[in-house]
Amino acid sequence: MAAELTLRDVSLQFGGIKVLQDVGFVVEPGQIFGLVGPNGAGKTSLFNCISGHYKPTSGTVRIDDAEVQGARPATLAGHGLARTFQHPALQLHETVLENVLLGGHSRLPGSPLGWALRTPGTRRAEKAMRTEALDLLERNGLAWAAHLPADELSHGLHKGVELCRALLMKPKLLLLDEPAAGLPHAEVETLIATVRRLRAEDDVTVVIVEHHMGLIAALTDRVVVLDHGRTLMEGSAAEAQSDPRVIEAYIGKDAADDAA
Ligand SMILES: Nc1ncnc2c1ncn2[C@@H]1O[C@H](COP(=O)(O)OP(=O)(O)OP(=O)(O)O)[C@@H](O)[C@H]1O
Ligand SMILES: [Mg+2]
Repeated sequence: MAAELTLRDVSLQFGGIKVLQDVGFVVEPGQIFGLVGPNGAGKTSLFNCISGHYKPTSGTVRIDDAEVQGARPATLAGHGLARTFQHPALQLHETVLENVLLGGHSRLPGSPLGWALRTPGTRRAEKAMRTEALDLLERNGLAWAAHLPADELSHGLHKGVELCRALLMKPKLLLLDEPAAGLPHAEVETLIATVRRLRAEDDVTVVIVEHHMGLIAALTDRVVVLDHGRTLMEGSAAEAQSDPRVIEAYIGKDAADDAA
């Protein structure tokens, strides 16, 4: 079952800097939800508050019925959460396949002793996980790179590898931070198809941070626009794109007045 994500009054402060102020919204199970806003609006910080990389100063984060603000990333994986990062951090000297397999650890059954002894059961599970990882790479157009060291791939392709790693966790809630940044146009189309297929086949709720408005318009059911750490508006992508407050936040008040 896809997860529901509920944020209520989430605030985040570093010293005197208010990074997020009273941000709240609900992402329904199975929705594709967009989080947009200008540079520095607080989008990545909000993802960090959901994924356990930051602890909100106040407010609550719920995944289904569980309150999870301040929980560790490993605990959140148990609630079905997986994410990708704006700046992917792969193990550069490991192969692409090994990097993807890191996402499967939380799903492997068996005891540490079984793994140390490499019992037939653990070897079978490992083999099945490798097959799944290769299948994900294939579906995302990266099968050719499976056995190359990650540092031989471009930044854009690292994002694809990270997506495969997140998908191997079989998430119920997936957070994608600028998945289209640095991708050529044709790859953006592949990404849109991938996310659509995820919703149709894998029963997962997806939250996407993206500056690529074509992708946001093509994929999302609903968006929240952040500006200076606050919610500017919530609605459809089309409503956001035509909202004067959003236009002003992106291009500045003077330019917005000139355009009017
Ligand atoms: N650990 C931190 N310590 C201090 N300030 C931080 C920290 N993390 C984020 N910030 C500040 O929070 C603000 C929001 O940053 P954030 O990276 O969340 O923005 P963003 O919306 O993701 O921007 P972009 O579109 O450029 O990725 C920035 O002013 C940033 O400097
Ligand atoms: Mg960011």
